Amino acid sequence: MEIKIELTKNPKEKPSSENLGFGQVFSDHMFMMEYTEGKGWHDPRIIPYGPIAYDPSIMVVHYGQTIFEGLKAYRTKDNRVVMFRPDENMKRLNQSCDRLCIPRIDEELALEALKKLVDIDRNWVPDAPGTSLYIRPFIYATDPYLGVRPSSTYHFLIITGPVGAYYKEGLNPVKIYVESNYVRAVAGGIGAAKTAGNYAASLKAQQEAIELGYTQVLWLDGVERKYVEEVGTMNVFFVIGDEIVTPELNGSILPGITRKSCIELLRSWGLKVSERKISIQEICDANEKGLLKEAFGTGTAAVISPIGELFWKDQRMTLSGGRIGELSQRLYDELTGIQYCEKPDPFGWIFPV
Ligand code: COI
Repeated sequence: MEIKIELTKNPKEKPSSENLGFGQVFSDHMFMMEYTEGKGWHDPRIIPYGPIAYDPSIMVVHYGQTIFEGLKAYRTKDNRVVMFRPDENMKRLNQSCDRLCIPRIDEELALEALKKLVDIDRNWVPDAPGTSLYIRPFIYATDPYLGVRPSSTYHFLIITGPVGAYYKEGLNPVKIYVESNYVRAVAGGIGAAKTAGNYAASLKAQQEAIELGYTQVLWLDGVERKYVEEVGTMNVFFVIGDEIVTPELNGSILPGITRKSCIELLRSWGLKVSERKISIQEICDANEKGLLKEAFGTGTAAVISPIGELFWKDQRMTLSGGRIGELSQRLYDELTGIQYCEKPDPFGWIFPV
């Protein structure tokens, strides 16, 4: 299928690369295509970024049949633009499609669309240290219908925008509240899919944690409220003695691409990484014994986010003396070094635009 291109006649003013926030500014163009039952995905096109008019009864608004991805493009020091593992994002998009009964997309076409869109808006890729172009592909149900069933029509869009750090703390450690009241997901639910409902489910706990002075919550399993799952918008790792532990993918945890990349990097350094169940009690015990060396979150938006403090019930645990842990710093340097092409890419993660 040919991707048609219509360029904007009114390019927007670009923000300065300094002091960029996250997800507030959008580039000049977007990708769009439609799905119609019996016809499949059709009419791929890149058009000026702008509002779309919809019938108020479209299904996504009522029942949340929608999925999304998040990835980034980076400007290198020699002014090239590259993307990090976009093939993995397109693969995961299709896994989310399966869980939400959305028709799969052609990954090759989606990769071509990503590349073309970022190329057209390459001047929007910021150049200040730590900044990037955030890319948000998403699909949603568009049937104007109030019955509950999978939609027969969908829209697939990709929008982009320049971003800085997701957390105001940047690489400084964040304070995390261990949530033992609300749950994000349960086994058999939609926790492993990148879908709006999981984020809607997280809002109340996040709001309460913020009111208490924390940045995010650490979710525990939905059945026993005992085993660690993930942090707000990140997967999570704990360094206990000489073992690096991250919760195993059990169906209610998001299979993060940064998570996967960190596991691959850590193992390539000869370090022991275990993907296994880990209880919050085990973390507390390790902390008391002085074995909990550090903890950090991983995510596309957040990159590596060291955890400086964990609060569970009435226990406050300070990690790495509230400073950036050694391993968090090493992972951040290596990962961002590969992403900005300042370090070799032995794994073939970088896709030139
Ligand atoms: C990402 O890290 O790209 C995410 O999707 C998290 C997002 C909810 C900000």
